Amino acid sequence: MTFTYPGKTEPAVSNLSFEIRLGETVALVGRNGSGKSTIVKLLARLYDPSSGQVIVDGHDLRWYDPQDLWKEYSVMFQDFVEYQLTAGENIGVGNLEEITDELVIEDAAQRAGADRLIESFPEEYDTILGKWFEGGTNLSGGEWQRIALARAFMRDAQILILDEPTAALDPQAEFDLFKRLTALSEGKMTLFISHRFSTTRYADRILVLDGGRLIESGTHDELMALDGVYAELFDLQAASYR
Ligand SMILES: Nc1ncnc2c1ncn2[C@@H]1O[C@H](COP(=O)(O)OP(=O)(O)O)[C@@H](O)[C@H]1O
Ligand SMILES: [Mg+2]
Repeated sequence: MTFTYPGKTEPAVSNLSFEIRLGETVALVGRNGSGKSTIVKLLARLYDPSSGQVIVDGHDLRWYDPQDLWKEYSVMFQDFVEYQLTAGENIGVGNLEEITDELVIEDAAQRAGADRLIESFPEEYDTILGKWFEGGTNLSGGEWQRIALARAFMRDAQILILDEPTAALDPQAEFDLFKRLTALSEGKMTLFISHRFSTTRYADRILVLDGGRLIESGTHDELMALDGVYAELFDLQAASYR
């Protein structure tokens, strides 16, 4: 599959071919601009490939009815929106059919690890977030990220896609979140993007991107044995933690 953004001459991703099965957790790694978020958008069918195809669970994405397809997705895009709504509504917009269901919202918050944060707000789930309204509570980037993650958990979808959900979290918080994810992604197809190799190493499969191309693919052990780009980047990061 190749994809070029409208108005661009160079493809953002080229000659990619991969298939993700239900039950699999796949990590996408690669430097900024390597095409990771573009793959997320292609998987969610916000764009169709310029040539080639995306295959999910054995079918070209275009084979699915988009409405049915989207029901099966929980996506946290990298550029998630910070809605100036209450904490509860901020999470509830992840599934408009259930935006008024407090139990569903609190369950999503708990699964994302955002429940204690929200309970610390003056009016808990009824607290307006953002500083634009009088009495609004403004959040740090990491706190917004937890809210956005809870939004992604509003649906019990089969396909979970997280684009750098943990970028604003410290390593311990990222590790906690990843443990949560592993339990949640049981039986689902999970694709996540992170720059921290300490968490991506536990994925069933790791795809390494460079300049829009898939340069390596395998488990952590396989890629370490390959002793290529992944192994080099992993060792570099591991050294910085020593
Ligand atoms: N909406 C867009 N329009 C045009 N070019 C884009 C757009 N989004 C991303 N790109 C370009 O596509 C390439 C891949 O970007 P992206 O998928 O965001 O990479 P990553 O998520 O790995 O940092 C980059 O060269 C980027 O500049
Ligand atoms: Mg990105």
